[in-house]
Amino acid sequence: MAFQAPNVHRIRAMEQSALPDYDAIRVEPLTGTIGAEISGVDLREELSENVMQQIRQALLDWKVIFFRDQDITTEDHMRFSAWFGELEVHPFAPEKEGYPKVLQITHDGDHRGTENIWHSDVTWRAQPSLGSVLRAIEVPDRGGDTLFADMVLAYERLDDHIKEKIDQAVARHDFSGFRRAMIKRGATDEEVAAFNAKYPNPEHPVVRTHPETGKRALYVNAAFTKEIIGMEPEESETMLNYLYSQSRIPEYQCRFRWQKNSIAFWDNRSAQHYAVSDYAPARRVVERVTIIGDTPR
Ligand code: SIN
Repeated sequence: MAFQAPNVHRIRAMEQSALPDYDAIRVEPLTGTIGAEISGVDLREELSENVMQQIRQALLDWKVIFFRDQDITTEDHMRFSAWFGELEVHPFAPEKEGYPKVLQITHDGDHRGTENIWHSDVTWRAQPSLGSVLRAIEVPDRGGDTLFADMVLAYERLDDHIKEKIDQAVARHDFSGFRRAMIKRGATDEEVAAFNAKYPNPEHPVVRTHPETGKRALYVNAAFTKEIIGMEPEESETMLNYLYSQSRIPEYQCRFRWQKNSIAFWDNRSAQHYAVSDYAPARRVVERVTIIGDTPR
């Protein structure tokens, strides 16, 4: 499969000419294709329908949006997120005490970051996430950035012969990393079997159509996708590795430098993310609220 570098100038020109108007929020894009910082909103307040609709539009347009200096409570965090849909309880990841719908992700020198693999959240579920809202509680002085990749652009820029092979393809997803961690923590065979039965490997399209924008996006990821159904194992592995490599192309990415009380809200249907684990022995604590999505099609 020949690699072809994307034509960045054309991409930028295309995206920037299509910049929508926002009159209730300020939207400052980070790149020509993915990521925008939003200002002029205070997430402690209950925002008007108009403001929320514009935030939603910015998310759809930029795939990940960022807010700074949001000294909000956990209730504010959940209320803001719940405007977009039902909130998920994650069966494996540690929750914030008293808040089953809030994941608390803490890493330091003894427990290094494990989210340093390109992924879209919870694709091992039959109905994976619409989006995730992550708030920085404690940030290291250096490092700990999160990278985001535009999977719509990644799909658009694929060669036609690759698109032909994957356009109708379906892939199997699994929570194998979490299963391994469970077994390491001493889970019994019965407990593991119960999780396997509750989360049987879903099959999702390799290229999904975004339910709100109608755009096609690559929807396989290195953390949870196992195989493309109907392909020989070697062909499936080669194809998946090639597709995974698309998120590593810098021209499809933006990079977010966290500060305390920064918030990132990403659309799991059109973007993947990678949390850089480069800050040990310092501590990094973030809290994530995850919004349940639809069945990918
Ligand atoms: C995640 O993968 O949900 C966490 C991302 C991060 O910690 O930046």
